[in-house]
Amino acid sequence: MKFNKMIQTQKTNSNQCIRVGLYGCNMYRTRDLVAGIHAGCPGKVKITACFDIDKEKASFAASEYDAVACHSEEMFLKQEMDVVLICLPPYLHAQTFERVAKAGFDVYLEKPICINDEDRQRVLETISNYNVRCYVGISYRYTNPFAKVAEIARRPDAGQLIGIHHHWLQGPGTMQGPTNWRHRMEQSGGQLNHHCCHLLDWMHWIGGPITTVTATSHVHDQAVLQHEEQELSAAFTFEQGGMAVFNLSQHAHTNSQFGMVHLQNLAIHYAWGKDTYVKVYKTRQRAADEIYEWDATSGNDPGTQRDAMQMADFVDAYLNDKPMPCSVEDGVRTYDLAKAVRLSCESGRRIVFNELVVEV
Ligand SMILES: NC(=O)c1ccc[n+]([C@@H]2O[C@H](COP(=O)([O-])OP(=O)(O)OC[C@H]3O[C@@H](n4cnc5c(N)ncnc54)[C@H](O)[C@@H]3O)[C@@H](O)[C@H]2O)c1
Repeated sequence: MKFNKMIQTQKTNSNQCIRVGLYGCNMYRTRDLVAGIHAGCPGKVKITACFDIDKEKASFAASEYDAVACHSEEMFLKQEMDVVLICLPPYLHAQTFERVAKAGFDVYLEKPICINDEDRQRVLETISNYNVRCYVGISYRYTNPFAKVAEIARRPDAGQLIGIHHHWLQGPGTMQGPTNWRHRMEQSGGQLNHHCCHLLDWMHWIGGPITTVTATSHVHDQAVLQHEEQELSAAFTFEQGGMAVFNLSQHAHTNSQFGMVHLQNLAIHYAWGKDTYVKVYKTRQRAADEIYEWDATSGNDPGTQRDAMQMADFVDAYLNDKPMPCSVEDGVRTYDLAKAVRLSCESGRRIVFNELVVEV
């Protein structure tokens, strides 16, 4: 089955205010997304119901958003809702998506949408079997510097993409303990799947369809987390020409991301961290023609910028029956790319990547 067949299964929604139920009420991501609604599309969404395995969290969110607190899934699925926002530890996403879709609700599904092949299959079968719409919460398309880089790279005068070179540095201090789902393969699919999915999506967003994946990885002898790659280098070729090279280091002594996008008619340098900037070089080799800078804390302010842009994009697509800007197809692709990277590391071979065809 081809993905574009699946994404035609939209239904018209004439409501001008979307009734949203929160499945998972943590006051981090869920709070930021609700703040994004208020900042990006005020009056377009009403939170009607809140459910969390932790009853206190459900009650707190319900009181914050003037919604019904639900202390069971059964009660939650009986509430007045158009969309269920699923924001849980990743290993629960696919199975929860299936039950919620089966109950007839459209879904905003946080990333990553799957952590293993079984989940992947479940997500695809769910979107195929039930006539629901699903938006996937991949975020770098809305996050600066990535959003600005993509906007510049897509300018008509930028020319052909030649290369993307990205470095993602963190740890070892930023690595979380073994009880945290973020760094447990069986709960998140590891950093490459649950966190780097943003970047894998962004590279595809700029470069288009990916044709091959070649990667190597290394685990330090003394690394706390022996189960996933600490040092990773992965190269991706694009169908339309050009290549992306991605380096992940989970054993660096800094926490930052930076890189360069090289196009036929311009070069873009960017960084995300204490100093977040985008510099565009066109006419002067040692001085940027355009410089964009953001405050070090701009990404930490709930509801501003990226969350507002993301929620506004989702709400606009939902209310106006447009295809979901970040789709199940996009979410599955990031899983497939992470899997191809690991396959290449294990086999020492280049992996041919066919992203258009999925088996259901
Ligand atoms: N798009 C982004 O930029 C972004 C940013 C942060 C987190 N996320 C994603 O959001 C999701 C949640 O992240 P988080 O940091 O808030 O996680 P978290 O572990 O802090 O919160 C998860 C919430 O789910 C609840 N929960 C756990 N099991 C449950 C169950 N069986 N039924 C109902 N509720 C249950 C917990 O009580 C908790 O409130 C993750 O998938 C993460 O990848 C996305």
